[in-house]
Amino acid sequence: MDDKRLAIVTGGGRGIGRAIVFALARQGRRVVAIDISQKNLDETKELAAQEGYEVLTEVLDITDSAALTALIEDLAEKFGGVGILVNNAGITRDGLIVAMEDEAFDKVIEINLRAAFIAMRAAAKSMMRNRFGRLISIASVSGVMGNAGQANYSASKAGLIGMSKTVARELGKRGVTANCVAPGFIVSDMTDVLPDAVKEAAKTMIPMRKFGSIDDVANAVAFLASDEAGYITGQVLCVDGGMAM
Ligand code: NAI
Repeated sequence: MDDKRLAIVTGGGRGIGRAIVFALARQGRRVVAIDISQKNLDETKELAAQEGYEVLTEVLDITDSAALTALIEDLAEKFGGVGILVNNAGITRDGLIVAMEDEAFDKVIEINLRAAFIAMRAAAKSMMRNRFGRLISIASVSGVMGNAGQANYSASKAGLIGMSKTVARELGKRGVTANCVAPGFIVSDMTDVLPDAVKEAAKTMIPMRKFGSIDDVANAVAFLASDEAGYITGQVLCVDGGMAM
């Protein structure tokens, strides 16, 4: 095990984050899953154990900037640096812009974008020292194309894309890459709540006429985290059945 390849996944307690935890564990990484939900983390740990992998878990609300910074710095200290950071935790608080409350805007930006900034800043320090790092953020087609009802969410996801491109420019010479994966519609708890009519309408916009799976997203993340992706930085890899061309 190469300690420089310690991988941290925010929102690793369920859904896409959990699939990413598994994909990185299968690559041989030592993975730490961070989530606000102890229950979700316990399930991730248990399911990973059933596959023969030990996943470390940390219960944390990533909007607590000081605690998030301290946790990442502690992990870097303990394991000789952070190799891979996946900013995956994200929420939606949808509504048309004319009806969107300030609080709904701020909360989405706080979790989806600000916490990713805090985590990247904390992880980048050890990555620069080790001259190796993979910063991967889960954006969305909503951040690439815009999506009615998601002014807050699409702003947060477009923000992740801009921030990753900047970090790619700042840290490229230190061997650190920064990329985004932009999922389209993925079968998950987040999309399960959509009315059937919305799901059917969405499929007409997808050239492949179906939703993706959490593993489709996790496989793209695992690729960007791998040595094979070492010359790819500042990119947005859409995993969306062709939706955002
Ligand atoms: P999910 O809601 O199933 O899982 C998100 C996880 O993040 C949960 O375990 C939750 O407890 C955790 N989390 C939420 N707030 C947190 C906080 N403050 N601190 C720590 N952990 C927190 O979401 P899903 O569907 O797996 O999405 C993962 C990422 O993929 C998100 O960033 C989402 O925006 C993005 N995405 C999802 C798509 C989809 O179709 N499901 C499409 C495009 C992007």
